Amino acid sequence: MRLNSPQINLITRACMKASRALIRDFGELENLQVSSKGPGDFVSSADKRTEKIIIEELQKAHPEYGIITEETGIINKTNIKNRWIIDPIDGTMNFLNGIPQFAISVGYEENNEIKCGVIFNPITNEMFCAEKGNGAYLNNSRIRVSNKKKLSNAMLVTGGPKSSSKIKDKIFSEYINVSNNVSNVRKFGSAALDMAYVACGRFDGYWQRELNYWDIAAGIVILKEAGGFVDFFEIDPSIPLKKNILATNSNIHDELRVLINKKDIE
Ligand code: IPD
Ligand code: CA
Ligand code: CA
Repeated sequence: MRLNSPQINLITRACMKASRALIRDFGELENLQVSSKGPGDFVSSADKRTEKIIIEELQKAHPEYGIITEETGIINKTNIKNRWIIDPIDGTMNFLNGIPQFAISVGYEENNEIKCGVIFNPITNEMFCAEKGNGAYLNNSRIRVSNKKKLSNAMLVTGGPKSSSKIKDKIFSEYINVSNNVSNVRKFGSAALDMAYVACGRFDGYWQRELNYWDIAAGIVILKEAGGFVDFFEIDPSIPLKKNILATNSNIHDELRVLINKKDIE
């Protein structure tokens, strides 16, 4: 791999270390389904442990950096110049059900711009990573988005709505509208891997509402460095960590943008 900034090396090392416990946990799921504490507790402890290992590794090198994490929240709030963005397990429901479609996702941001990121599925041993200006990789191979030109031939991926969503109807009608205009739509349950799969051409595009920044932070740089295009729609400045994302191979972006949002996309 030709990525060698100190930050990408740190993230990669932290992901590798955290993944060892995660692989062990995944292997023990069957026993835990019947444990007295129940699978919910187990997953949250796997989440927390993974996050703890990653934070410890990253903080060894840069105790002063800001961190935005799913489980712990915000650390070193005042440092907004250098920040790690961490989702310890993206695809929790898959993890819990023994489906190997989940990943550790860690991004590094400088002055509000994602500079590098890693999305690592420890079960399939696929590590997607990228550094701004240096391309995107899957393990040791350079990756690129698909070359599909027409939305009508495209295979897309999406996710949601969560059971707590207040805009389920809107999301379902959007899904119908998009489905009627593309070749296929899939729902795989890990936003980070959805982004990574667009980056390596497995999907042609991805859209989803009501995400959190940590779901997609690393994916943003990976997809852009693979030649894709990412933007956000219906932005609410009062909740900057909430995101509605549109991410494609860039060829189909405008067509898809018209379908999912008519007015106020950036
Ligand atoms: C979830 C996954 C899922 C998406 C949800 C996310 P989690 O993250 O990315 O694909 O549809 O909106 O919350 O909870 O598994 O980290
Ligand atoms: Ca997530
Ligand atoms: Ca998570």
